[in-house]
Amino acid sequence: MRHFLHETDFKPREIGEVFTLAKSYKQKRGKIAKVLAGQTWALIFSKSSTRTRVSFEVGIHELGGNPLFLNRNDIQLGRGETIEDTARVLSRYVHGLIVRTYDHKDVERLAAAGSVPVINALTDFLHPCQIYADAFTLAERWAGKRGNLLGSLKGRKIAFLGDTACNVANSWVIAANLLGMKIALAGPKGYAPSPSLNKILDAHGMGSGGYQFTTDPIEAVRDADVVYTDVWVSMGKEEETRKRLAALSPYAVTAKIFSAAKPDAYFMHCLPAHAGEEVTQEVLDSPRSIIFDQAENRLHIQKAIMTKLALAAKKAKKAKKSKK
Ligand code: CP
Ligand code: NVA
Repeated sequence: MRHFLHETDFKPREIGEVFTLAKSYKQKRGKIAKVLAGQTWALIFSKSSTRTRVSFEVGIHELGGNPLFLNRNDIQLGRGETIEDTARVLSRYVHGLIVRTYDHKDVERLAAAGSVPVINALTDFLHPCQIYADAFTLAERWAGKRGNLLGSLKGRKIAFLGDTACNVANSWVIAANLLGMKIALAGPKGYAPSPSLNKILDAHGMGSGGYQFTTDPIEAVRDADVVYTDVWVSMGKEEETRKRLAALSPYAVTAKIFSAAKPDAYFMHCLPAHAGEEVTQEVLDSPRSIIFDQAENRLHIQKAIMTKLALAAKKAKKAKKSKK
């Protein structure tokens, strides 16, 4: 069964196909093949969400399917039913699972125990749907109308400031290496990327250390094509709020820091943003801020990802039947 739990679950060539499909979905919007007709895809969420929940629910509907939202605490999972039993039971009813949770291992356990595609809708470790949408947002700008979407990303530099150990930063490190981009991260020492990232880069033949980490924000943004930040207090870290705000304050993306990047650099943020903390309102409102295009593209890219997984599941089912 094909899943989307990590950025590396699609090979670079396939990421190009996902982007091309997302581009065509974006152009056609309502007039598309109903790839999920007759299907129900369940969303199991243990954390809050605006963009991810709504873009998946709308996307499933636009593909002809039925979205089923399940808050973890409304199902028996929240009362101790195992992840494995939940996966086995839901696989008898639905055609795909979209999961937002804390421990990254939980999405892997769901995928291993179930028999339908699983999509990672954010864990403490990774947020791959976000980063595919972000990279697509950049590619559609840099490639222009007819250019090569993936090719347009090659050699570009992204600077990530703030909590550089968070899920969005981790996902960007992997994606940058996968897509031939350069990435520099700036934050305090205690918030540097986890060494486990190097293992992932190694395991996928991307070499280790495929990123630069510095405590100097100006050094990170120098020559950058993109300046990116995320909240300083990710979901699940609320108890550390005071400590984090104090440690991360030198890494706020201000107009001064943004102006140290290339003159045509874009500002990006996965949202929700906390203006006055990780970024100023002035930068959020800048004409080079593309935060709402990123948010919109979650819809188009996730439709493309679901299409790929649904078609792979159909193919696998057919192959299984013909073996019998
Ligand atoms: N960027 C993102 O995943 O937003 P939500 O938490 O609103 O889904
Ligand atoms: N790092 C943030 C991303 C939210 C989309 C969090 O995990 O809360």
